[in-house]
Amino acid sequence: MKSLKRTRVSELLKGDSSHLLGKQVNVKGWVRTRRGNKNVAFIALNDGSVIHSIQVVVDVASFNNNELLKKVTTGACISVTGVLVESVGKGQLYEIQAREIELYGDADPGRYPLQKKGHSFEFLREIAHLRPRTNTFGAILRIRHALSFAIHKYFNDNGFFYLHTPIITGSDCEGAGAMFRVTTLSFDDVPRKEDGSIDFSRDFFGKETNLTVSGQLEAELGAMALSNVYTFGPTFRAENSNTPRHLSEFWMIEPEMAFCDIDDNMNLAEDFLKYLVKYIMDNCEDDLEFLQKMYDNDLLKRLDFVLKNEFERITYTEAIEILEASGREFEFPVSWGVDLQSEHERYLVEQHFKKPVILTDYPKDIKAFYMKLNDDGKTVRALDVLFPKIGEIIGGSQREERYDKLSQRIKEMKINSGDVWWYLETRKFGTAPHSGFGLGFERLMLFITGMDNIRDVIPFPRTPMNAEF
Ligand code: 4AD
Ligand code: MG
Repeated sequence: MKSLKRTRVSELLKGDSSHLLGKQVNVKGWVRTRRGNKNVAFIALNDGSVIHSIQVVVDVASFNNNELLKKVTTGACISVTGVLVESVGKGQLYEIQAREIELYGDADPGRYPLQKKGHSFEFLREIAHLRPRTNTFGAILRIRHALSFAIHKYFNDNGFFYLHTPIITGSDCEGAGAMFRVTTLSFDDVPRKEDGSIDFSRDFFGKETNLTVSGQLEAELGAMALSNVYTFGPTFRAENSNTPRHLSEFWMIEPEMAFCDIDDNMNLAEDFLKYLVKYIMDNCEDDLEFLQKMYDNDLLKRLDFVLKNEFERITYTEAIEILEASGREFEFPVSWGVDLQSEHERYLVEQHFKKPVILTDYPKDIKAFYMKLNDDGKTVRALDVLFPKIGEIIGGSQREERYDKLSQRIKEMKINSGDVWWYLETRKFGTAPHSGFGLGFERLMLFITGMDNIRDVIPFPRTPMNAEF
């Protein structure tokens, strides 16, 4: 038989495939389940193109290769050629009556780990090489793709240029001191200077380098030429935070805009988040419905809620007053000057305002060096966007564009100005007011998918003591 071109399951089940009814089609994929009896076998075949599997019906008695059929079990990969017909059974419109099956790879039922439904998320993390084959992770990975696409589309449609910022850097954007070192020095024979300190001039780049914690500083350089830029890449933090919201390697989206103040910045953040949520609601209906049905009855309601509500905008100082007046016993007590914990952020969003909140004007001592100082001399033009279930989803600010103020902050915070001389130069040559923010991609994925743990919205999570796969 002449080999047929493969049709994706999405095309058969989601598109209008009525023109293929009664015709031969070929599908390839992985067996989700196989049931039936000695006369007929029903195979649910999934190729990842949609959440749904196509039903393949095999008339066992007339099928010519029963040895092969025995190996068509959960997890096996097969190619099926047969006739597309309307299904008499419940649950699907069409099914394939198999004429020919080719086995690419079997999956020993005694050893293939994804036998039953309802494995725990913990177990699935241990088999991250196979978990994309579950319905849940298929849905998550398709949503992750659509969300990445929507991010590029939004910026492209709004006059932003995608700027590729380096992953290896010699600077520390956030000043939190939690960076992964990049070196080719030998641990057995570390070159040292006379005073005993390590001689990084003999390292690969001739200086100390690390994996970037943020592309912001370089994005600012781009904005001082192209006006509106964004980055979208991996960022790395070596903080030992074992929480459901922290990864050691995560993806961040960082727009940076010239001629933009903190209000414009907040408007962009709100518009951008709403656009992304709406894009996924419009384009990933099946996957969202599946996740809602399986895990989270309120998922679509929560997404809709973000679209329908204007984000509440208040200052840090007002937030502290609300928290102090709440009468709540927080695990971390609040007073002006403390950094907010997720319990405080979630109280403001979920209990007090009952909608997303943007907090601005934080104390300068708990924020990074590059934020614009307010006239009070105590607070900076920072903004954090807080979401239900997640807490902080975006962190950003208007940047300090005044050379004197910026170099004073750099001194106060004991940052080595030799590491950021190029950053300072933009304030010397043609400086301009500008602003930007960073959106944690996996935090947004958590919100959109309703998952509880950030390890379950990235294909291969990196967390303390875990870099398998
Ligand atoms: O608030 P952060 O640290 O801000 C910056 O890095 C700025 N340079 C951004 C900018 O203004 N261009 O991080 C931004 C966002 C956070 O709001 C959070 O969503 C996410 O990045 N994030 C993490 N996501 C997962 N795991 C971690 N360890 C994260 N740390 C921050
Ligand atoms: Mg932050």
